[in-house]
Amino acid sequence: MGDFIWRPEYSVGDEHLDEQHRGLIELIDMLEDQSHMDEVLGRLEIYIDEHFRDEEGMLANADYPDLAAHKRQHKAFEEWLAVSRRAFREPEVSSMLRESIRAYLKSWLVNHIMVSDKDYASWLD
Ligand SMILES: [Fe+2]
Repeated sequence: MGDFIWRPEYSVGDEHLDEQHRGLIELIDMLEDQSHMDEVLGRLEIYIDEHFRDEEGMLANADYPDLAAHKRQHKAFEEWLAVSRRAFREPEVSSMLRESIRAYLKSWLVNHIMVSDKDYASWLD
């Protein structure tokens, strides 16, 4: 276990989405152990797919006005993740690249939750 943990201030006010965000943070935290990185990134890809689908579905139901922009952020992230996974399979991936992938994942998730996801919180009441 690393030091990346879910915090109450990450809450978007919806139990299901908070639970999924917690799961994402746990997965990213598991990347601390670099020996399982490919497997964890694979699980992350599946988890992200389900989470983005749920989140976008809820926002569509709530008539959230910035849904199109929000979806674009999700899409860009999915593309980044796919490219990173591919880069990862190269035999001589340096530990620096591994560390930068992990650092990017942490900061993307926290920024996305704290800014873009928080923005929809009031629409889900
Ligand atoms: Fe989101």
